[in-house]
Amino acid sequence: MAKMKVLFATSEVAPLIKTGGLADVSGALPAALRELGIDVRVLLPGYPVVMQQCGSFDVVATFANLVGFPVSRLLSGKMENDVPLFVLDCPALYQREGGPYQDASGNDYSDNALRFGLLSKVAALLAGRATPLAWHPNIVNCNDWQTGLTPAYLKFTPGGARSVITIHNLAFQGNFPSTYVHALGLPDYSYQLQGLEFHGHLSFLKAGLQYADHITTVSPNYAQEIQGEELGFGMQGLLQFRKDELTGILNGLDIDEWNPATDPHLAKRYQVRDMTGKAVNKAELQKEMGLKQEADVPLLGVVSRLTHQKGLDLLLEIAPRLMELPAQLVILGSGDVTMQNAAKELAYRYPGQIAVKIGYSEPLSHQIEAGADMFIMPSRFEPCGLNQMYSQRYGTPPVVHATGGLSDSVRDCTPQSLADGSASGFVFSGMTANNLYKTIQRAVRLYGVPKEWQMLRKNCMSKDFSWELSAKAYIEVYRKVLGR
Ligand code: ADP
Ligand code: GLC
Repeated sequence: MAKMKVLFATSEVAPLIKTGGLADVSGALPAALRELGIDVRVLLPGYPVVMQQCGSFDVVATFANLVGFPVSRLLSGKMENDVPLFVLDCPALYQREGGPYQDASGNDYSDNALRFGLLSKVAALLAGRATPLAWHPNIVNCNDWQTGLTPAYLKFTPGGARSVITIHNLAFQGNFPSTYVHALGLPDYSYQLQGLEFHGHLSFLKAGLQYADHITTVSPNYAQEIQGEELGFGMQGLLQFRKDELTGILNGLDIDEWNPATDPHLAKRYQVRDMTGKAVNKAELQKEMGLKQEADVPLLGVVSRLTHQKGLDLLLEIAPRLMELPAQLVILGSGDVTMQNAAKELAYRYPGQIAVKIGYSEPLSHQIEAGADMFIMPSRFEPCGLNQMYSQRYGTPPVVHATGGLSDSVRDCTPQSLADGSASGFVFSGMTANNLYKTIQRAVRLYGVPKEWQMLRKNCMSKDFSWELSAKAYIEVYRKVLGR
């Protein structure tokens, strides 16, 4: 049988450009699919940092007058991991200071509908009959709202590839004024309840959910949760209606990038057979972050976007109580200004016990996963979540709220689960500050019993979070969609 060809359309890919977990997935899943024999190629906008890294790629197509923009070019090359990459270069839309979605002051670009409308349109073009390339994908796998219009474009121009949309976060929907229906060249009749209209707006994500041949999301539990009112963000009716074409597949990890035995960012590398290096990383992290060099005080770690979703307001609320346990806390993150200030204020009040770094740092994120004793992730909702899996791989048991992918990837520690080797962290239900406190307290108690704590760490580090299984599940979905 001919090789399956997949166009993977996305708005961020690690290590080229990353704001969150979508980039990690877009970096690692295509590589895992290629290992399994799929001819997958990635499509990404040419933001400045991407152009700096890929500027020497070959120009393989030019497009005129798509969504009103005179010229855009398609560049083709390979990423470091050998995965073929198409870069969509349209300077008028992508050459900007700031991030992929927001300007340097954190405001969404006012023309995001055009920026990602173009991306969606080009993905559909490459997957359609009129593609200028000799390569014809059978499937286009879109990701989140930024490529949500692709399935719609494909539907309105029959004869192209089949489409799958992957939801990484239903809270971000790409809802724009209805005037964009015209501007983006979508047919008038598509702007209706059973189309891409959502509460008086054009919704990119809804377009994807409505028109894709299949929907996936990033954990089995989240696939259930988004069919309910609480986490459906208004899309629950449509998702219930399409439940037979909705599959939850837990993300994997890039096990080369996140490997304590080879991690170049660590003061000392370690592995499950010999974890002595972990204490060295803790001491180094304490030193670097200005915390007291106390080997036996449990060090709690956080690496996160500081937003309502991540529930860290609860952690900040109970931080003074945690300090009495005693414990230390290190936070790396950025986001809401109020939350940033509250965190900085705590660091000021508890010098040597709480350290906060506002910003983004790849090396420090690895050092926290390795140097902390436990990792705190009390998300209100979490489609999958990657950090709780990274932390397990680094022998740093996570404390998590029972939601989304956190429930699917962390097994609560009880005497039974510890004995049978399945325990891998601490899970709490009921999103209150006191429940979080009690759960961290439970973790700290176990930390005080070295033999049991060691068992728990071993369980964590022995778990298999590689992409292979998940990539196979994606292939199953592609096969189903293609009727193979
Ligand atoms: P989300 O995508 O919702 O932010 P995930 O847990 O899926 O959550 O992925 C977050 C990714 O971003 C992880 O790879 C995490 O290490 C990284 N990350 C988040 N904040 C920072 C930061 N301040 N510095 C470095 N890496 C960060
Ligand atoms: C989103 C979700 C996160 C998930 C990531 C990758 O950013 O918030 O839970 O892990 O996408 O799928």
